[in-house]
Formats: sequence, C-alpha cells, structure tokens
Amino acid sequence: MLPRLIPLLVLPLLHPSAAGWIDPDTPENARTTTPLVVVPAKPPRQKKPRETPDATKTNTTTSTDSSHKRRHREPTSTPTYTPTYLPSVLPSSSPTAEAATPPPRTYHLVFSDEFNTPHRSFADGHDPRWTALEKNDYTNDAQHYYSASNAYTDNEGNLVIQSEAADTVVVGFNDVEQRKEKVTKHFRSAMVQSWNKFCFTGGVLEAEMALPGRSDVGGLWPAFWLLGNLARHTYVGSSEHVWPWSSSTCTSKSSTAQLISACDRVQHYGLHRGTGRGAPEIDIFEVQAGNIKANTGNFLKMPVGQPFMSSSYQVAPGRLPRPGEGWWPAPGQWYDNLTGGVNTSLNIVFYGTYNHFRDDTDPATQDYWSDAISYNRQLNASHFGTFHKYRLEWELPEEANENNNYTRSYGYLRWFLDNEFVLEVKGEGLNATGTGAEITSEPMYLILNTAISSQWVAFKDLISCLSPFAVIEGFPSKCPNMCPCKEYNCHGGFQETCGFSEGFCQMMDASPIEYKINYVRVYQDKNDPKQKVGCSTPERPTRKFIEAHEKKYKLADDLHPLKPIQNGGGPCVATPDVGNANGTANCGGPSRGICQSKPSFTCRCLDGWTGPHCTNPIGFDDIVWDPPETWADFGFSGPSLKVLSGGILTLGVLVVILFMSPFVLKKRRQIMGGWAPVSSAGDYERRVGV
Ligand SMILES: *[C@@H]1O[C@H](CO)[C@@H](O)[C@H](O)[C@H]1NC(C)=O
Ligand SMILES: *[C@@H]1O[C@H](CO)[C@@H](O)[C@H](O)[C@H]1NC(C)=O
Ligand SMILES: *[C@@H]1O[C@H](CO)[C@@H](O)[C@H](O)[C@H]1NC(C)=O
Ligand SMILES: *[C@@H]1O[C@H](CO)[C@@H](O)[C@H](O)[C@H]1NC(C)=O
Ligand SMILES: *[C@@H]1O[C@H](CO)[C@@H](O)[C@H](O)[C@H]1NC(C)=O
Ligand SMILES: *[C@@H]1O[C@H](CO)[C@@H](O)[C@H](O)[C@H]1NC(C)=O
Ligand SMILES: *[C@@H]1O[C@H](CO)[C@@H](O)[C@H](O)[C@H]1NC(C)=O
Repeated sequence: MLPRLIPLLVLPLLHPSAAGWIDPDTPENARTTTPLVVVPAKPPRQKKPRETPDATKTNTTTSTDSSHKRRHREPTSTPTYTPTYLPSVLPSSSPTAEAATPPPRTYHLVFSDEFNTPHRSFADGHDPRWTALEKNDYTNDAQHYYSASNAYTDNEGNLVIQSEAADTVVVGFNDVEQRKEKVTKHFRSAMVQSWNKFCFTGGVLEAEMALPGRSDVGGLWPAFWLLGNLARHTYVGSSEHVWPWSSSTCTSKSSTAQLISACDRVQHYGLHRGTGRGAPEIDIFEVQAGNIKANTGNFLKMPVGQPFMSSSYQVAPGRLPRPGEGWWPAPGQWYDNLTGGVNTSLNIVFYGTYNHFRDDTDPATQDYWSDAISYNRQLNASHFGTFHKYRLEWELPEEANENNNYTRSYGYLRWFLDNEFVLEVKGEGLNATGTGAEITSEPMYLILNTAISSQWVAFKDLISCLSPFAVIEGFPSKCPNMCPCKEYNCHGGFQETCGFSEGFCQMMDASPIEYKINYVRVYQDKNDPKQKVGCSTPERPTRKFIEAHEKKYKLADDLHPLKPIQNGGGPCVATPDVGNANGTANCGGPSRGICQSKPSFTCRCLDGWTGPHCTNPIGFDDIVWDPPETWADFGFSGPSLKVLSGGILTLGVLVVILFMSPFVLKKRRQIMGGWAPVSSAGDYERRVGV
C-alpha cells in the first residue's frame, strides 16, 4: 500500500506548469512558436457548372452500423435547394488584410516527442505517452489489422508506421456487426494513439512527417488526427452518440441524440451539468494518393486532384439543409466563415455522415447528422517519402461566465502545411448555423495511422456511378472488368487482386511501406488559462466517465482499456554480442537497461527508461486534474488556477521532487492511471492473464 502522503507530495505535479512531457531532444529553437499568418487564396476564376447528376434524387439509404463510418456518406434524398455549382463561400478578404496584424502571442512547448531513441515499442503497457493498437479494425471497411509490432522507432529518429500486404487471422468480436467472427485480414498496419495518456485542449500542434507509398498510386489512407478523449477510436461502442458532438446547447435533438447533453439534469461521473459533451474530430490530414489530376475524371471542375490531403473538422450536430455529396453548396446550405489557402478546394465529397446506431429504436429522435467541414489541399510527389511540416492552430471559444457580460469569442481552427496557410474554420460560422455546434473545448488525443480501406476513394458512390465519363480509379475503385471486389488480397487470384488500383500490390511488395513521423510537438499560450494539458480537465472531465464505462473502451478479454506501464521484466539475452545492441533482446542496450540473470533472464531498467525491455524514455504521464483520491480528503479543493501565481515556490518543490524522487514519480504514474500499481512482471502477468 502506498502511504497517504504521496498525493500530497505529487500535488505540485498536477500544477499546469508540469504539463505534458517535453522530449529533451527537442531543439532549443523549437521551444516556442507564434501564430502563423492567414493568407486567403484569391477567389478562383468562375468555372462552368458540373453536369447535373440527376441521381441526387436517388433514395437515401442510411448507414445502419456505427459511428466512424466516416466515409460512407449517403446523399440526402434531395438537397433542399437546387444546388449551385460554385462554392458560395469564396474568400472575401484580400491576401494582405489579415496578414498585417498577426496577434502578438507566444506559445510554449508543453509536449514533444522527437522519436530519437531507436527500437521503441508502443504496445499496450510499453510507452507512457502512446499506445499502438493490437486489434482488428471493423470501421470504415478496413482491409487491415492493426498490429502493435508495425509501429516502432527507427535508427534515423522517426516513429515508423509500417503497412504490409500480410495475412492476419482474427477471431474476435466484430463491434460494427456485433457478432463474433473469424476473418482473415490481408493487410497489416498500425495505429498509434495517445488516448487517455496525453491530451490537450487548445494550442498549436505541429508534426513533421513523410507520407507512405507513392504519390500516384491510390490505396493507402495515412492520417494524423485528433479525437475527443470520450471516444476511443476503433472501439466502436465508445463513439455511439458521442462522436463527433461538440455542442453545449440543449435542443430537442441533443436531448435524445447526444449521450451527454446540456439538457441533462443529473450528471454523474464528475461531469458538469449543462455542459454537452462528445468526441469531435479534427483531421490535420487524411491523405489520398492517386493519379487523377485536378479538373479531370472524378475531380472534374475541381481545382485540386490527387494526391491531396483533406483537412477537416467533424462536428455534430450537423446543419440542415445540406448540399448533396458531390455538389457545391447553395447559399444557406453550408458553413460561412470558411477560408481556404492556395491550392485548396472545398471538399464536396465530405459533407458529413448520417449516424444511426444498431440499437436505436427511434430514428427520428436518436439519429443525427454530423458534419465534416473539409478542404482538400494539393500535394505532390515530394510529400511522399520526404518530410514536410503539418500544423494546426486551435483557439478555444470563450465560454460564457456566470455574468455573461463580456464579448464572447468563438474560437477557430487553422491548418498549415510547411507554414503555408491551408484552411480556417471560424467558430462564428459554426454558431451562425444555429445548431449549437462549436469549436470544441474537449481534451483531444492524437492519432497517427495508415488505414487500407475500400472506402477511401473519391466520388465512389455518387459521381463515379453516374457519369459515363468518370475515370474510375483509386482503391478499390468502382469494380473494374466484372471484378467482384468482395475480397482484396494482393497475394490472391484475379478475383482478389482485380479491385486494386494499378500498381498498388507491386508497391506494397516492392519495399517496406513506411509512414515516418520525425516529431510531434504541442505548444500552448501560458497566459491563456483555457489551454490545458490533460485528458480529463476541470472543465471537461473524462476520467470517471471512462472508468465507469470501461467496457466500451476495451476488448472483452482485456482487464482494463490500458495496461499499466511495465518497467522492465521483459525476457532478454545477456550476451553482449546478440544482434542489435540497442534492441529488445538486450534491454534497450547498455545505456537503457541491464539483462539480469536472476531469477531468470529479464530486463531491469536504468533511470529514465521504462517498458518491459527498457526501450522507452520515462516521461510524465498526462496531467490528471481529478486523481482518484478526492482532494477533499487532504483538505485541498483541487488544483486551482489562482494558486498559479505563487508559481515559483511550487516550481521549486516540483524541481526538488523531480530530482529526488523517481520512486514517487513512478508510483504516481501508476496511481494516476487509475489502476492498481504493478510491482513486478510476474504480478503483471497474473493480472492480465497472459
Ligand atoms: C424511395 O423510397 C420510398 C420508400 O422506400 C419509395 O416509396 C420510393 O418509390 C423510392 N423512390 C425512388 C425514386 O426510388
Ligand atoms: C462570417 O461570414 C459572414 C457572412 O457570411 C460575414 O458577414 C462575417 O463578417 C464573417 N465573420 C467573420 C468573423 O469573418
Ligand atoms: C498552386 O498554386 C499556384 C499559385 O496559384 C499555382 O501556380 C500552382 O500550379 C499550384 N500548384 C498545384 C500543384 O496545383
Ligand atoms: C511540391 O510541393 C512542394 C511543397 O508545397 C513545393 O515546394 C514543390 O515545388 C512542389 N513540387 C512540384 C514538382 O510541384
Ligand atoms: C462583469 O460582471 C462582474 C460581476 O458582476 C463585474 O465585476 C465586472 O465588472 C463585469 N464586467 C464588465 C465588463 O461589465
Ligand atoms: C450565435 O448564435 C446565437 C444563437 O443562435 C445567436 O443569438 C448569436 O447572434 C450568434 N452569434 C453570432 C456572432 O453569430
Ligand atoms: C544505440 O543507441 C545509441 C544512442 O541512441 C547510438 O549512438 C548507437 O549507435 C546505437 N547502437 C546501435 C548498434 O544501434
């Protein structure tokens, strides 16, 4: 048992100045950043209208499975207004108007991971900041299995997400179809997420990465995105009626369709009454490669073709009326205050999703539309295989205070590529729809993954089926040459390979397909108390809710959603000349761990390292603002921001604790995880039943 004293000792660690974890390898000149300039593109030349596809009049079939059916968007039966053919939202200001007055603001690094130590493993229980899923993916027509061993750090200082055409036989519960099944997935890939470990609310996110595969061969779906901590991606149950809500307005729809709505009178799990909750999605990018150029084929009349990245904000409730997919919106059909940069286009295939869940008995009240406010940005061959910088600036809305007597601000999201402006979504535009949707204030976690999905193709449902002139390409594309497209397997016969876009299987087999991430950095404005690190913030707590609904966030056989981080104990080989000196066989190499022979050959980690094989740097876990022991027990009312002003003393205490008490830190991480500490590998194995 831990002495009750420990929570007292760790109190200063909960102070926001202890935020996140900063990788010591982060260069000094990357410790701060300032807002980048919004440079709207000049309005494009008016283009001739697209041929009217009569079939927007086709019937709606609603998606009957679950959330994150993000790409399977069915058109509404008929757009309420006759759609126009040009964006109604053209950038209005001149390129220099906003450029002249960048806000005088500095953001400081609060989290970074430079991925500079090789052989890091991200399997559950190995890394304090990230978890790589070991799980089949049943969402979005996934053709892949997510394997933790497909995510690792290489010798060049990158996190690598490797995709391969390799079989995995999965016996498990299909949480979309809600049945147990045995399937063979013909692709293996990885998803690394910081769910319930590192989250942030507001600030600047920047990462440098090289995209996988070839720019001209469609089929891979690499992404870098944020999701609210209340939903854990690919665990479908966690997102139903949660994804992608961002609304604190009580409406008749939110009262029945939003799991935690502003209408709720009684709120358990530490949630705040009158605060609607959810897990909205911010896609820094989702990339589609291929060789369909702008203004041709499926991209006829569109200024951006393949390869492109979609940058999106996915939010519920959605606005109605809406344009049909593949249509430019008529006035009043889509959001105002959207601004795109050069080489961008409103993404007219992404208007949103109709969300219907299996057990819902009353579609009229329980179903809801969510919106995907999205622009496509042109990429080129240089983005595949070489590094570019992707960035999000996220300004939180100013929440109403008791007196409501100040000017409300609505916040914004801004995307940049290599410091070049891509898109701005303003809170005003969300608010103006009157749906109650807003720029999110939810703590969001990071996701990095490459999917291989038969959905990831432009215009699949609508235009490609209708237009005899449409170039049908991409993966899987509209099935060519009588191809059944029932199964996609690069190593199968014609029936399984005919659905791929040209060159895809050759690409998969020719060389390792690697999505490389050089670093991920998060910055916040220390003068803005709204910006926080933590997966469960005072304003938007998540911890107790998740603990009370663990089943939704884990597989049936898992004890808990996340395993505690195991410090050493992995099996090892004690001879110095085995294979890779820094590898797992040697406990990360001599500077990280020692292979002890007694009682058996297992790793013991040196200071600063953790994971069963000591391959991972110890870092702070996420700040937990509401640790399991109630503060009242100790006479504290919780870490209040007012206490901050006395920061120097606190900082002093923090420093002392930092340097004097690695034990306390270690224990803290385990306690703060919400689950019992694990003292040894043997104990660990008994607990999880391996
Ligand atoms: C649309 O569906 C309704 C009800 O299922 C049906 O009565 C109607 O004929 C359908 N319309 C078209 C154009 O298919
Ligand atoms: C938002 O768009 C509306 C018109 O669509 C415009 O009047 C308003 O000035 C815009 N607001 C901002 C903050 O850009
Ligand atoms: C990007 O925009 C510039 C300026 O408008 C244009 O010259 C260039 O061709 C565009 N590049 C691509 C790849 O579309
Ligand atoms: C590709 O894009 C990069 C970054 O936007 C740009 O610097 C480069 O000139 C482009 N290359 C070509 C061939 O268009
Ligand atoms: C807002 O209300 C508070 C409390 O009533 C008051 O002290 C403050 O001066 C008000 N601020 C403004 C700008 O009116
Ligand atoms: C925000 O929405 C509310 C409610 O619909 C409305 O009263 C208010 O005028 C809106 N504010 C702006 C700036 O559009
Ligand atoms: C082991 O890691 C260290 C530090 O990262 C590095 O300098 C060294 O070259 C690595 N050795 C091998 C064999 O990878």
